[in-house]
Amino acid sequence: MKRRDLLRSGMAAAGWMAGAGLAQADAGLTTVPAPYLPGPHRDPLDPPYPDLLSMARAYYRHSGYGQVLTLRDQGTLLVMGDREGARVQHAYNGKWYWDCHRIGSLYNLGHRHPEIRQAVMDALVQLEIGDAYYLSGWRAQAAEKLAASTGGVLPGVSWAASGSEANEAALKAARGFTGRRKIVTIDDCYHGHTGLMIAAGGNDGDKDRYLLSYPDEFARVPWDDLDAMDAAVDDQTAAVLLEALLAKNGFKEPSPGYYAGVLDICRQNGALLIVDEVITGIGSTGTLWYLEQQGIDPDMLTTAKGLSGGLIPNAAMLMSQPIYDWFASAFQGHQTTFGGSELGCVATSATLDVVQAPGFLDNVNSLAQQFFDGFQGASFGVTGAGLCLGLQLPEPNNTEALKALFDAGVLAAGSRISDVVQLRPPLILDSTEAAEIIDVVRTTLDGLYA
Ligand SMILES: Cc1ncc(COP(=O)(O)O)c(C=O)c1O
Repeated sequence: MKRRDLLRSGMAAAGWMAGAGLAQADAGLTTVPAPYLPGPHRDPLDPPYPDLLSMARAYYRHSGYGQVLTLRDQGTLLVMGDREGARVQHAYNGKWYWDCHRIGSLYNLGHRHPEIRQAVMDALVQLEIGDAYYLSGWRAQAAEKLAASTGGVLPGVSWAASGSEANEAALKAARGFTGRRKIVTIDDCYHGHTGLMIAAGGNDGDKDRYLLSYPDEFARVPWDDLDAMDAAVDDQTAAVLLEALLAKNGFKEPSPGYYAGVLDICRQNGALLIVDEVITGIGSTGTLWYLEQQGIDPDMLTTAKGLSGGLIPNAAMLMSQPIYDWFASAFQGHQTTFGGSELGCVATSATLDVVQAPGFLDNVNSLAQQFFDGFQGASFGVTGAGLCLGLQLPEPNNTEALKALFDAGVLAAGSRISDVVQLRPPLILDSTEAAEIIDVVRTTLDGLYA
């Protein structure tokens, strides 16, 4: 067949498949289109689609039909409309949900936090993305605050626009600095969805799908297993890359001495330690960085998501003096147009001010205590630190649990480990709101398991 005919038949097949799938998707959505319901803060905005069906059809055709079908089949098809503080509203049926999904830690400070919003709105009078080629005081100021947040242990900052990109920068720095290629990570880890991060990550299906499997360069070991770590790290290892706590297992804290042991193994072999605080950072475990609780200094730390209050993307890789001295000797060790944008850095500075304000983290810790106490004696176990919680289910059916929680008005996150649900309450709750969430979660899951 000629190339032109091949293209034509391919397009016809694609059109047919999309049409068939669309009917299939329609079937499960609704026969009566749900109208768009403007929330209290959305009145001036025209909704892009007036009803759920037309929105889902457009999404299905152009923005990801696998996502539409999966959410529909799970019974968790949410379209976020209005949002405020710890809650979001379904744009088409008006129902409000507690956002304990918070897409990792993006909404640590809840939605549209007034101080971050104000800082960004003020900045918009003069600023925009900015030009990464030139210098910027906003970038310098945010970097200085980040360096100070580590007590000066990690004084160098390289900007990025996402957690994956910050981790890419860290791996580049580790390989360039050490002149070695091998990276050791943890089973079931997730560090992002760019090429190197899929190669480093814990999902073999992704590696196969995108042809990103490099077993000679990336090794994985079980969480909290120092013997396995010791066996994997050698004189060819550039770095160990760890999620500060592993989200997939429900943020289980490691045995005492684990982190110190990993650092020791790295030091003995001339390898670096990179800690990914994309979920655990910015206060969500009760300290600004989880590593503060472990009392060790890594060589690099990555942060993203909540780093800019959920309003503008921003991410960063923080590094020790020797790594900075090498990495920053290039014009830009990591080049990025959107990373470290001026608006992003304004949001980052404001976010760090909010989280480090007196009393803020005290409230996170007392909320965490309230959650742990509130789940005592429930039909499920609780793991984690601060407000990064893992609900350990008695049965491996977290999809059912997530659906039940969704129906009860609580958004939470799943895990490939199917008896784990991640519950990540926003850090700005008051104790009455926390009590309500605890009650709903407990009643719902006890209804399933007790
Ligand atoms: C621990 C961790 N690292 C990195 C990432 C990737 O961040 P991003 O989606 O901003 O690329 C994620 C995203 O969920 C994450 O959970």
